[in-house]
Amino acid sequence: MSSQNRAQIGVIGGSGLYDPDIFLNRREIKVFTPYGETSDLITLGEMEGKSVAFLPRHGRRHRIPPHKINYRANMWALKELGVKWVISVSAVGSLNLQYKPGDFVVPDQFIDMTKGRQYTFYDGPVVAHVSMAEPFCNSLRKIVIESAERLKITTHPKGTYICIEGPRFSTKAESIVWKEVFKADVIGMTLVPEVNLACEAEMCYSTIAMVTDYDVFAEIPVTAEEVTKVMSENTSKAKNLLREIIRSLPEKPDERECSCCHSLKTALV
Ligand code: ADE
Repeated sequence: MSSQNRAQIGVIGGSGLYDPDIFLNRREIKVFTPYGETSDLITLGEMEGKSVAFLPRHGRRHRIPPHKINYRANMWALKELGVKWVISVSAVGSLNLQYKPGDFVVPDQFIDMTKGRQYTFYDGPVVAHVSMAEPFCNSLRKIVIESAERLKITTHPKGTYICIEGPRFSTKAESIVWKEVFKADVIGMTLVPEVNLACEAEMCYSTIAMVTDYDVFAEIPVTAEEVTKVMSENTSKAKNLLREIIRSLPEKPDERECSCCHSLKTALV
């Protein structure tokens, strides 16, 4: 990777977040990976004096459904570019009446109900078992939460995200299980395996989960139209928040205080 094609911060955007005009010195690059194609070209640019790589998770014009995203290629490409912090933005449904459409959530835990994705870079002969006890970078989460507070965006500082396989939404019976039995707060389709792979790649990772709907336990069937509508209403809030987070990150990645950069230390067999 050429020395110009480097970035400290990776942003993985859900639908609607891509706005090339938010970056200075913008250029688009293709990163070749051992896992095949990334979701789209990666936009490199500067924001608040820091180098940023932006990747639309579903591709531009939302072409790739959650179960078909090449998560390994996406995360490998960000690592290859030198990314140390990954901020991911996604739409979620709410399973908790306190978490309302339009609110943001910074999850601290997840439950994986996906079924058939590529979960690891360590498929053998090298084997790794990374700890997922604290799946998100708590230092990065703190920066996200404090940034949202400064901007007065209604944000829940913790929550359990249940990740389903999709692309369909849940049945009522499933939704009640996720809410009442599993005690999850929000539901989405894209967190796993992005978060696991970030950890294997020793990158700090946090998600801004934007609540777009109440999941179907609330007896109102969720529609894709509703999700898209709330998501687009929230886009400018999300863009302002991203800028504030990027402004607040340390100048130098080696100032990271968390253990994410050593997550393989105790994982390799
Ligand atoms: N993304 C947005 N809303 C969702 C829901 N209710 N279930 C799963 N994924 C979602």
